[in-house]
Formats: sequence, structure tokens, C-alpha cells
Amino acid sequence: MTLSDMTVSKLQPLYCRVLGLVCGLVLLLFVMAPLSPAALAQSSVRLPAGASGSATPPPPPAGILSGTSAGRGAQDVGSSGTARNPFRVPDPTAGKGARYDTRMWEKLRKGAGGTVSILDSNAGQLIQSDGWEWMKLRNGKLQRYGGWALGGTIVLLAAFFLFKGRIKIASGWAGRTVTRFGFWERAAHWMLAGSFIILAVSGLNMLYGKELLLPLIGKPAFAAMTAWGKSLHNYVAFAFMVGILMTFVMWLRHNFPSWRDIVWVAKLGGALGHVSAGKFNAGQKMLFWLIMLSGFSISATGLAWMFPFQAPLAGETFWALNRLGTDFPTTLSAVQDMQYTSIWHSILGLFMSCLIIAHIYIGTIGMQGAFAAMGSGEVDENWALEHHDIWAKDALAARGSLGAQGGGGSPAGPSPAGPQPAE
Ligand code: HEM
Repeated sequence: MTLSDMTVSKLQPLYCRVLGLVCGLVLLLFVMAPLSPAALAQSSVRLPAGASGSATPPPPPAGILSGTSAGRGAQDVGSSGTARNPFRVPDPTAGKGARYDTRMWEKLRKGAGGTVSILDSNAGQLIQSDGWEWMKLRNGKLQRYGGWALGGTIVLLAAFFLFKGRIKIASGWAGRTVTRFGFWERAAHWMLAGSFIILAVSGLNMLYGKELLLPLIGKPAFAAMTAWGKSLHNYVAFAFMVGILMTFVMWLRHNFPSWRDIVWVAKLGGALGHVSAGKFNAGQKMLFWLIMLSGFSISATGLAWMFPFQAPLAGETFWALNRLGTDFPTTLSAVQDMQYTSIWHSILGLFMSCLIIAHIYIGTIGMQGAFAAMGSGEVDENWALEHHDIWAKDALAARGSLGAQGGGGSPAGPSPAGPQPAE
């Protein structure tokens, strides 16, 4: 070993220690620098007067907890300026000399967005306080009024059934039938009906299941059921859309209004005496248009939720409505647009469910002989003449049997042979 080798080996530990000490000091300086009084004095964000120096979370966006605008935090500040609630920062504008950018907070709270470099441009919005309003509406008024509407419909129908009973074929069964709906009409109807029932049940579970079902069947079963229901909801929606389109095309020509519809309404749908009707009476025409309009709208809003942020559906609709004189907000953020769309989707779902409960009632237990129209497609001649005489006479004449049932197109008496068509 040479002399220089020995010197290096002796000096090395000392050298390392000095270097370590210097590095440590530099590091300490970096850590301490931002906490020095000078640095604190230069900071552009100051704690408001009266607030303690301890770390506090940012103020919650106004409207979330309070439902009011900015400045609600001031209510939690004592006269001394000391925050009573340790989790709420006092109103920054209340302090003397506060240099707090309230306009920036106000804009952020109202949903102002910046730009982000990631693909999801919605991430540029820091606070979306409308989400709370949306949730309050969905879990509050929407659920409550929707429940009343559904329950009210069932109670009304039950009361009607109890007091009036089933609407019978006044002249009894003729025992001969006439074709009311062909194969494709029935296929389209049952596709629409089947898909709607699945959509309604799975949709109502999404809205009410947590309150009604979860306590009964427990979390694991409810979670599995709701997850399956949601997938089913998304896929079955396409069958519903096809059903709506098919029935619209097939039945549109029978559903244009006519002067007879006014008579039908004036005579309360036959309650105040016989009313003539074509293939569909005024009540059915109203149902047709309500189902079609709601069906198209619920499909569009459903698609908007299936493919989110692709089209500003609510904004565009509000813009069009405002041209007719309304005053809806049109500068909606992408998320707000989805929230309006979702509320409208739920309202339509509840509305259609009420209509369909009434429709199912009248098509089954409510009216004797009605179900066969959609079952076998064949209805009793007397039923046809009593409820849709204009259409029935045309159908019988086309078959060459008008008059065969007696009375030249009026309902015949009950069939003596008496084989009753299946309902
Ligand atoms: C179990 C469920 C259902 C039953 C038993 C049923 C029964 C019927 C019957 C018997 C008719 C023929 C009425 C006639 O001959 O004049 C009919 C027609 C019709 N149904 Fe249904 N239906 C059901 C569900 C649905 C659903 C869910 C929808 C729509 C979402 C729907 C939409 C229609 C429409 C638009 C018509 C034609 C207009 C009318 O007759 O009121 N149906 N249905």
C-alpha cells in the first residue's frame, strides 16, 4: 500500500461526513424556507381575520348544505370573529383587509371550468354543486310524487272496479269472431309491452329499491338484483325502441283525430250512451299519442345516458322551447345537461307506468272480451260492434258477412250455442 493510498483511506470517512452534513443543512433550509415569517408574509392567500391558524378544510360550496348563496359561512362566525364550527371557515369577505378572491370562488362554485390535458374534459370542473340539488330532487319530490301517482292510479282503478265492476258485452257473446289484429301487430305490441314491463320494473327498482326492497332482501341479494336489472334495462331498451317504432308505423293511420272523438269525450267514453268509433276510439288515440311521444322522448334521454356527454339534449330542448316563449336555462354544463335529462327520463318513466297500469287493467279484468284482441287477434263480433262499430262493419263487410250476425251491423243477441271465445 502506498502513502497516498493510506491518506485516501483515512480521509474518506471524514469527507463523507462533511458532505453528508452539508447536504442535510441544505435540505433543512429547503424545508424551513416556506415556513419562515417572511415567506408567510409574501403568501398571496391569507387566512381570514378571526380564523385560527390551524389547518381547516375549504368552505363547502354554498347551496349544498344551506341551499343559499355564498356567505352562509358567516352565520357560523361568532361576534368575536371566531369560528364556532371548527369545520367551517368563516366568510373570507368578512375579515378586514382580506385578500380572498371571492369572485373566483363564486365562479367555481357555480360550475366554472378550466382546461385539463386529460381526455375527460369534464374533469376541468372542480365543483358541481348542482349535483346535490339533482340528488335532493330525485330522492325527494320525484320519489314522493311518483309514488303517489303510481299508488293513486292503482287505488282509483281498484275503486272503479269495486263500484262499476267489469264492463260486460251488453248483448252477450255472439260466438263468431272477427280479426282485429294480425300477427305483426300483435308481435310488435308484445315486444313493446314485454320490454316496457322489464324496463319499468328495473327502473322502479333503481328509484325505490333501496328504500323498499333492500331492507326486505338484504344487501347481497339487492346488489346482485340491481346490477342485473341495470344491465337488463340497458339492453332491453333497444327492443322497446323497435316496438315503439313498429307500432307507430302500423297504427299511425288509425290515430288521426276526428270529430267523433269529441262526441266520445263528451259522452265520457260511452258512459252516457253508445258512441261510434273506428279501429281506435278517442281514449285509445290519446293513449297512443301519449305512449308514442313519451316513448320517443324516454328513448332519446335513455340513449343520452347510455352514451354520456355526446349530445346536449336538455340544452338544445330548452333552447327550442325558449323560442316558444319559455325561459329555461340554456348555458348548461355537460354534467348539468345530464342531470336534467335524467330527471325528465324518470318523470316519463313514472308517467308511462301510470298510463300502462290503467291500460293493462282495461285490457284484462276491466273489459270483457278485450284481451282476445291481443291474444289470438280474434274478437267477438258483438264486442267489436259495441266498442268499434265503424271498424267492425267495415271488417265484416270486407269478409262478406255483414248482416249475418243479425240486425244489419248491430250487435246480435247472445249465441244460443254458447261456446264462449277464450279471453
Ligand atoms: C300485460 C300488458 C298489456 C296488455 C294485457 C295489453 C293489452 C292490450 C290490448 C287488449 C289491446 C287492444 C285493445 C283493442 O283491441 O282495442 C292493446 C292495445 C295497445 N297497447 Fe297494450 N297491453 C299491454 C301492455 C302494453 C304496453 C306496456 C304498451 C306500451 C308501452 C301497450 C301499448 C298499446 C297500444 C299503443 C295499443 C293500441 C291503442 C289501444 O288499444 O289502446 N300495451 N293492448
